[in-house]
Amino acid sequence: MFSQSLIKKFESLETPFYYYDMEILENNLKCLKKITSELGYHVHYALKANANPPVLTRIADFGFGADCVSGNEILRALECGFSPEKIVLAGVGKKDSEIALALKHNILCINCESIQELQIINKLASRQQKTAPVALRVNPDLEAGTHRYITTGLNENKFGINFKDLESVSGMLSELNHIRIIGLHTHIGSQILNLEVFRNLALRINDIQNWFQERNITFEHLNLGGGLGVNYQNPDENILPDYQKYFELISSNLNARDRQQVHFELGRSMVAQCGALISRVLYVKKGLNRKFAIIDAGMTELIRPALYNAYHKIENLTSSGPLEMYDVVGPVCESSDFLGKKIALKGVRRGDILAIRTTGAYAEVMSSGYNLRDRAPAIYSDQL
Ligand code: LLP
Repeated sequence: MFSQSLIKKFESLETPFYYYDMEILENNLKCLKKITSELGYHVHYALKANANPPVLTRIADFGFGADCVSGNEILRALECGFSPEKIVLAGVGKKDSEIALALKHNILCINCESIQELQIINKLASRQQKTAPVALRVNPDLEAGTHRYITTGLNENKFGINFKDLESVSGMLSELNHIRIIGLHTHIGSQILNLEVFRNLALRINDIQNWFQERNITFEHLNLGGGLGVNYQNPDENILPDYQKYFELISSNLNARDRQQVHFELGRSMVAQCGALISRVLYVKKGLNRKFAIIDAGMTELIRPALYNAYHKIENLTSSGPLEMYDVVGPVCESSDFLGKKIALKGVRRGDILAIRTTGAYAEVMSSGYNLRDRAPAIYSDQL
């Protein structure tokens, strides 16, 4: 990912910054486009993973749709060229103003997560004298085999409509005159590497779809959400996710009806590997039984290690010394402010440039200004 001339450029720049390799992004999108076009599948990119305009514009140019979880994400998607009929709005706690905004812009559909929300969407649509296109997000009660904090499809999670409520939902639909049910939606979690989980999801959706059909409720589209994981350990050998395997597994297990559309909301798998957080070493400090590389990026730029104990590969781009073990930590006043623990790095000195890999997704979007730190800028390979 980093040529010598690129590293030279990095050395001349103020750190930390988020670096985006637009060629990696482009190759990913090409591959995804090819496979999904062959299968006739529709992808709505989940903006929550990375909402930077140059990234979004590129994704919109490929003709993908957008999966938004706030009014501001809808506005950003529209600004960056996504057409409204390819935008969906999800989220367990949509504000009335966000639902109204979605209706005003005539987006493809609102993914609805509760009985009460159905009633509110109906009311707000009636105020605009519209019929709201809605997908029912059903909680399929399926184990996703990922970190608890990013598991969303279990009964204990706040997301989606539980099976116990489906009978009431199907009973009330005929009274909701300003709602048109167009889709069935699920999303069971993120960073899922065991693809068997998606087989189970497809089979569960078949059951749910049959259940509704018995009650004369049919769907124009099925939306399987996102969740395909990426390889944080070996980014270079796995720069592209295994889209082929993923989509083929779904296609051979999902009973899509004739002319029924199949939708996905991928986020991480599309953008994670194109990003790296670039940071400078400020100090090297010897503790009692460990060495700290204290760098100028921290949990404010990448909170995933602190929040999920997530692993990101770290490389020293400017040293050729032998490997030594370091805890790589940031400047923030929290002991959870680490980027990696017990990391083997080529001998670290003050001024070295480190790359923290696979930060294209859920890094910059989750950054904060804690400690009144400056916001790290984004730098794009095609603008350098
Ligand atoms: N659709 C829905 C309804 C979602 O909640 C999400 C992610 C996605 C799609 C996209 O999932 P993806 O393909 O990116 O896995 N901050 C966490 C990840 C949170 C994911 C939340 N929902 C992390 O850094 O790992």
